[in-house]
Amino acid sequence: MKAFDIQKIRADFPILQREVNGKPLVYFDNGATTQKPRQVIDAISHYYSQMNSNVHRGVHYLSQISTDAFEVTRRKLQDFIHAKHEHEVIITKGTTESINIVATCFGRTFIGEGDEIIISAMEHHSNIVPWQMLCDEKGCVLKVIPMNERGELDQEAYKSLFSSKTKLVAFTYVSNALGTINPVKEMIDVAHSQAVSVPVLVDAAQAVQHIALDVQALDVDFLVFSGHKMYGPTGVGVLYGKEDLLNAMPPYQGGGDMIKEVTFAKTTYNELPFKFEAGTPNIEAGICLNEAIDYINEIGLDQIKAYEDELLAYATAALAEVEGVRFIGTAAEKSSVISFVVDGTHPYDIGVLLDKMGIAVRTGHHCAQPIMEFYGIPGTVRASLAMYNTKEEVDALVVGLKRAIGMLL
Ligand code: ALA
Repeated sequence: MKAFDIQKIRADFPILQREVNGKPLVYFDNGATTQKPRQVIDAISHYYSQMNSNVHRGVHYLSQISTDAFEVTRRKLQDFIHAKHEHEVIITKGTTESINIVATCFGRTFIGEGDEIIISAMEHHSNIVPWQMLCDEKGCVLKVIPMNERGELDQEAYKSLFSSKTKLVAFTYVSNALGTINPVKEMIDVAHSQAVSVPVLVDAAQAVQHIALDVQALDVDFLVFSGHKMYGPTGVGVLYGKEDLLNAMPPYQGGGDMIKEVTFAKTTYNELPFKFEAGTPNIEAGICLNEAIDYINEIGLDQIKAYEDELLAYATAALAEVEGVRFIGTAAEKSSVISFVVDGTHPYDIGVLLDKMGIAVRTGHHCAQPIMEFYGIPGTVRASLAMYNTKEEVDALVVGLKRAIGMLL
């Protein structure tokens, strides 16, 4: 494992050297997508200049090296999340598609009229809407774990939501809008300890780049995340599922790769993982995600988390000193997200003014409108941190924010 050398890490990310609006870029929109290290960027160029070919289909050399590289990523992902089997790692377009696969294939098969699905009050739209669509179709019911003002889920209320009709629980590991880290293991244990064990889907889109994941230790049934939030390419992500659950589910889409044999009379389906991977995948992204995993592994998530936690504490203390700042999301356990409002200003105006100073933050509802409704606000300003951010950048944010507030008030 490499020592945590922030200057070396920053030098690996070419985009961090550029200016925006004549100012050095300060990139604090990592919750939306992370920047890519040179290793990933070079791998993409190498793929197209030396390897480009379809996977799982050809006997020719290029197809074989592409297929091998694609499958190396699957094995790396298996190790990365400590899955028992390689074929439990389904390579998808990203978190949203992964959740939709579970909602469609597990939901339509095993959830019926009057059945109940539990989600939480802090979900991203991608972990709300697929379940609502299922409820509309099947007549099932969505139940929501409430949260307190700090943005922590009410664990007693969670336990009381279960009934004999509960068929699935789905919640986020880390809230994209609040930064709350949920007590995932305890919540999974609650679901599994019901009279009939209830399967759990964990949305790890905002966790996978910050916290080491072990699906076997968690005993999670489904876990989903995206490559682009973990320093990898866009258009690739993961659906992890326990083998028996994935085997019991019908395919998601029909097409190439997901079949064993097709006649006009009947089609038989391929085995895992290919049953859920119809059509040509995002080959380049699948192959080059490999480099992002290596990059994270070489530094180590423990070191990354320790650094990011220190930076989060520093940024929280620094922003707390800015007059008018009110944090949204003050959970005891947080990861890399600081959401706030400034009384008397609109988050959008703050975001636009910060951008003029080269500082990228996200503003708005962060695809989590129910959270904004809970707090009675239109949105927040969100600074989301990554391993390449620095205290100097936090200082620049504080200076920029004070200037912006001065212009607006
Ligand atoms: N879900 C992403 C975010 O939180 C896009 O910004």
